[in-house]
Amino acid sequence: MRLPGRHVVLGVSGGIAAYKSCILVRRLREAGATVDVVLSRGGARFVGPLTFEALSGRPVATSLWTPGAALSHIRLAQQADLVLVAPATANLIARAALGISDDLLTAILLARTGPVLVAPAMNDRMFDHPTTQANIAALLARGWVTVGPDVGSLAEGDSEAPGRMSEPETILAHAGRCLDRRPPLNGRRVLVTAGPTREALDPVRVLTNRSSGKMGYRLAEAAWRRGADVTLVSGPSSQVDPVGVEVRRVESTADLHREVSALLPSSDVLMMAAAPADFQPVESAPLKRPKPEQETMLALRPTKDILSSTRELRRGDAVMVGFALETGGAIEKARRKLEAKAMDLVVVNDALEPGAGVEVDTNRVVILHRTGEAKTVPLQSKTDIAEAILDEVEVVIGRRASAVPETAG
Ligand code: CTP
Repeated sequence: MRLPGRHVVLGVSGGIAAYKSCILVRRLREAGATVDVVLSRGGARFVGPLTFEALSGRPVATSLWTPGAALSHIRLAQQADLVLVAPATANLIARAALGISDDLLTAILLARTGPVLVAPAMNDRMFDHPTTQANIAALLARGWVTVGPDVGSLAEGDSEAPGRMSEPETILAHAGRCLDRRPPLNGRRVLVTAGPTREALDPVRVLTNRSSGKMGYRLAEAAWRRGADVTLVSGPSSQVDPVGVEVRRVESTADLHREVSALLPSSDVLMMAAAPADFQPVESAPLKRPKPEQETMLALRPTKDILSSTRELRRGDAVMVGFALETGGAIEKARRKLEAKAMDLVVVNDALEPGAGVEVDTNRVVILHRTGEAKTVPLQSKTDIAEAILDEVEVVIGRRASAVPETAG
């Protein structure tokens, strides 16, 4: 997560989860953000200003009435790229919903016109109370965003009830989305596939490939951050589920085909970053095959090509992105795949180049448009490659929206 040059005002109200906000300050700073911490009276009782001052590297504000800081609530409310309240107690949420501005934090919230992200944390009964629910609904109606609370054990020892503040990493991801959501991906439905698939030889042995899933996972994260509703269909991968993304795990190419077929009709964008197994054994043995005594032949048949065989399920204006991992003659082969599979964009890379291809964290790619343009993206992290690919997806969506004819050439 990167937030370079972003200014975040972090309001901390009086809940035990305030200790997790110390870690949140660190995460925000590691991401490159400048953090001004504002403590409510209750917040300052749980964690002192000195702790937050040391972590943020900046003075911590606690009062409306500090000499020399007159109108600091207006300045902070206007200057911040994001106002984030974590933890937000039931009391803080109630005061914010009613527009009560009896301390610095609530005054900032009342003067705020830009994005606000709220991470509620409270006892589960207080959270369930109709008043709290109505107050949260009022904040959402104002365009504010909430994250959590999570289900889990609470300070009072009650088990598995909603009320725990979300983890700092989750809040950080939502902060990124609040800052980066934007047209044309905001609100679009994006389907991403990732990872290899496995074809069973018997109950314990499989045919698969070296795909790690990294490219697809980075794409899913980046699309979500830009505001899309993202579903990620993933073959076996050790990658962690991205925050906010619906993840469906599959095993074989047939499983992947089934999920893509179900989701494609409602998708605005499909990004086929998966490396589906191209072959499956003609026979999958129900019991483990005994080790062959001598050289043996394995009969294989091709699996279904997902992009080609789901063409009739695509929406007319949906954007199709495919990948082509080649070993030599990459551009010509990729262009043929783009035509054959009717893609709008194909992301080409050559697995023989150092730092490119499967299993590594970096890549260098060329993004080919159906219209003929080619964008070269030099060697960089898959996170940055994902951003570059999404920039091109936005170009295609933008052209369709403004009905500029896409001529070949
Ligand atoms: N793809 C697919 N269904 C398959 C295999 C691949 O939809 N059964 C998709 C991939 O996800 C990728 C694109 O097609 O976006 C190109 O995949 P690639 O493996 O490079 O091409 P193939 O058509 O499988 O050709 P080959 O492996 O012979 O190069």
